[in-house]
Amino acid sequence: MSASILEVKQLTINFGGLIAVNNLDMQVGYGEAVGLIGPNGAGKTSAFNLISGVYKPTHGQVIFNGEDITGLPPHVINRKGIGRTFQIVKPFGSMTVLENVMVGGFAHTSNRNKSKAIAMEVIERVGLQRKVNALAKSLTLADRKRLEVAKALATDPKLLLLDEVLAGLNPTEVEEAVDMIKDINKSGISILMIEHVLQATMAICNHIVVLDYGKKIAEGTPQEVTNNPEVIKAYLGDEYEAVIN
Ligand SMILES: Nc1ncnc2c1ncn2[C@@H]1O[C@H](COP(=O)(O)OP(=O)(O)OP(=O)(O)O)[C@@H](O)[C@H]1O
Ligand SMILES: [Mg+2]
Repeated sequence: MSASILEVKQLTINFGGLIAVNNLDMQVGYGEAVGLIGPNGAGKTSAFNLISGVYKPTHGQVIFNGEDITGLPPHVINRKGIGRTFQIVKPFGSMTVLENVMVGGFAHTSNRNKSKAIAMEVIERVGLQRKVNALAKSLTLADRKRLEVAKALATDPKLLLLDEVLAGLNPTEVEEAVDMIKDINKSGISILMIEHVLQATMAICNHIVVLDYGKKIAEGTPQEVTNNPEVIKAYLGDEYEAVIN
């Protein structure tokens, strides 16, 4: 069996003329936390959509747990063990926290009590126990992000894809969310996370992949990627050109 829970090979998607993800090779090891970073429009969310079955690749493969899952529909991929959160959080606003998370619980059981038990357990894990009966629309952004993570956890993933769950949070909330993600990872769930908050990404991930214009431009330890001139240039663009010239 492969040493990686997720292996992406030559993954490519072409929208008309735009190659949003271009020949991407990357892996997530069992139990590992990997960061996927890059400027706006680099193709990070598109890569998640390819891995989770929302988009079918133009080319390339997605291997999960040794099995080729390329092109399978999202619910099938989810049932195999890939959970994800969405960059734009869309809870059912007039449902409670518990009811929202139970929707995830129903991925594995049609029994209401079982789904409720799963939901209560993950709600506690993400620290939303005091908000169990609150309506989703009444939550702060930080709590809505936690709810999004809880919904994904309720599907019992082996690999969790997190799309900018720290975006828009204040420094204290970021710190708390970092602890939550570390705990999830320690419990044995592998993590692939997209994040713009680099400091936080580096606190969680020991391996980082950098995308720019759909292509992987660097990967390595946080220190390796932050010292990489290609990465600095991708982030700072013209300003960087001005500095070095
Ligand atoms: N369904 C689609 N149809 C056409 N173009 C798309 C589609 N989805 C994404 N794109 C384009 O693909 C490129 C990559 O977008 P993507 O959302 O993957 O970037 P991202 O790295 O997640 O950016 P951000 O950091 O802003 O979230 C963008 O140019 C985007 O406009
Ligand atoms: Mg995105």
